[in-house]
Amino acid sequence: MEQAGEVSIVASMLSADMSCLGTDLLAAERAGADRVQWDVMDGAFVPNLTFGPQVIQSCRASSSLEFEAHLMVENPERLIKGCIEAGCGTVIVHEEACTHLHRTLGEIRDLGANAGVALNPATPLEHLHHVMDLVDLILVMTVNPGFGGQDYLWSMGTKISQAAELARRADRNVAVEVDGGINAMTAPSAVAAGARLLVAGSSLFAHRGGIEVALKELRSAAEPAVGTKKGSPRGA
Ligand code: DX5
Repeated sequence: MEQAGEVSIVASMLSADMSCLGTDLLAAERAGADRVQWDVMDGAFVPNLTFGPQVIQSCRASSSLEFEAHLMVENPERLIKGCIEAGCGTVIVHEEACTHLHRTLGEIRDLGANAGVALNPATPLEHLHHVMDLVDLILVMTVNPGFGGQDYLWSMGTKISQAAELARRADRNVAVEVDGGINAMTAPSAVAAGARLLVAGSSLFAHRGGIEVALKELRSAAEPAVGTKKGSPRGA
């Protein structure tokens, strides 16, 4: 039986104040975020350019939270080692950006990090069927990646459920994460479908009541939805 407290809130640094990332990072930790996501963008795979391993490393000492790198870049292989050395315990690559996804996921794990794979809204879950032995986290994108503050794609609900089913059938813990448009209104649907890691950017950092209020609001909206759908996966 699933217990409350199984939902993890992942603060997306894309929506933090880029002029003082360390300060916002500390605020997110103090407000109760469970994990931090660094949205690494190269302006080629997505039409936006953000930060890389050096910035992540510069913020590592500002927080004790786990860091994950979400590589929204072409040829993500070239950034894996740098992100892990910068302090990321999980590296998430986009299936669409990997010519040799099986090899890339193996490289992440060989370097001692958890391997995550992200799927853009149009990409079917079937693309993961032959690499599930190397996957520690499935990230179902609930927006088209590149920018924060976009509307949640409700049509991804079935895909989240399918990802949860795929994770449940795996012979070990596979986390199901969602990213994009996650807030107190959309989170219950994502959690009911089986997501247990909720990436949130603008709903945390742009909340008019501040990040503490935002996190409390998001968590109290999401937690009751745990277990409201049969067969949800084990926790993250
Ligand atoms: C892809 C990014 C964003 C971000 C979350 O564009 O990965 O989804 O993390 O942004 P919000 O929570 O503002 O939709």
